[in-house]
Amino acid sequence: MTGELTALREAAEAELRKAGTEEELQTVRTRYLGRKGLLTGLLRNIGNVNPAERPEFGKRCNEIKEDLSARIDRLLAGMALKKREEALLRERIDVTLPGRGIRRGTLHPVTQVREEICRIFAGLGFSVVEGPEVELDYYNFEALNIPKNHPARDMQDTFYIEENIVLRTHTSPVQVRIMEKTKPPVRILSPGRVYRRDSDISHTPMFHQIEGLLVDRGVTFGDLKGVLTMFLKQVFGEETALRFRPSFFPFTEPSAEVDIRCVMCGGRGCRVCGSSGWVEILGSGMVDPEVFKNVGYDPEEFTGFAFGLGLERIAMLKFGISDIRLFFENDMRFLEQF
Ligand code: PHE
Repeated sequence: MTGELTALREAAEAELRKAGTEEELQTVRTRYLGRKGLLTGLLRNIGNVNPAERPEFGKRCNEIKEDLSARIDRLLAGMALKKREEALLRERIDVTLPGRGIRRGTLHPVTQVREEICRIFAGLGFSVVEGPEVELDYYNFEALNIPKNHPARDMQDTFYIEENIVLRTHTSPVQVRIMEKTKPPVRILSPGRVYRRDSDISHTPMFHQIEGLLVDRGVTFGDLKGVLTMFLKQVFGEETALRFRPSFFPFTEPSAEVDIRCVMCGGRGCRVCGSSGWVEILGSGMVDPEVFKNVGYDPEEFTGFAFGLGLERIAMLKFGISDIRLFFENDMRFLEQF
């Protein structure tokens, strides 16, 4: 009987050595230690053993049973550990690797300036409107009192699509379009692209303007000065010196260009201001009665002022940019700075 026990134990051990998976280990356990297992069977038949050998036999059986059971547990635990370690290795992430930075976009400097200006005028009750970039000669020139022989109409200065259709050369045609379909009071701001045949360090064939227009009863040149002064001081700083310089535009009378003390040199004179100490910043004036007549407003009843300015020019002065072409190259190294 003892010989049988030893053989059984050796067979079980051999099987355990071969078992490579959890499942195989469980099969061995069932075969020897299960309810109908081989070792269990021997114990159950302990009655067939010679009574003198019974205690010893029972003891050996139990020893083998416990031994096998403990072995299987250890092997199972070992397998589980190995599995875990493999999984950890597989899923390992190197937290010391530098992360991939998320590149954050910034608003284009021209957009920033446009939004700032729109915000300032929104505070004064101006609403933002837009007009077409491909414009009729009538709105771009004729209705604005720009005569047929005006140099702006030259093919050298204006992009013509057809004889009577142009790429608008300024945002002023929006004034006419708005007045044609609304009754005073009018308070609008109109940003947008404009086109001129011009290209050098301070000119690009396309650039951005903002047009402003205010029409009501009793609007005076004093209102124009007050509004534009407040506006420019908000954009360039409260201490900024301004001057209103008489000028001429066919659609305003009287007209004035507004200069600010050069922000680059503080007025001492530099390349940007052409050593004059001043830089021109916008065109403005009281709406010409001819324009009012063209849109059916009575110039005896209504007066108003208009102004137009170049956004790139404002951005250049505000941010200290010396070449207007930089705005349109879309070089991230340039754009990221704003
Ligand atoms: N449209 C003019 C320009 O492009 C600017 C301007 C607008 C002047 C409104 C007076 C009034 O130069």
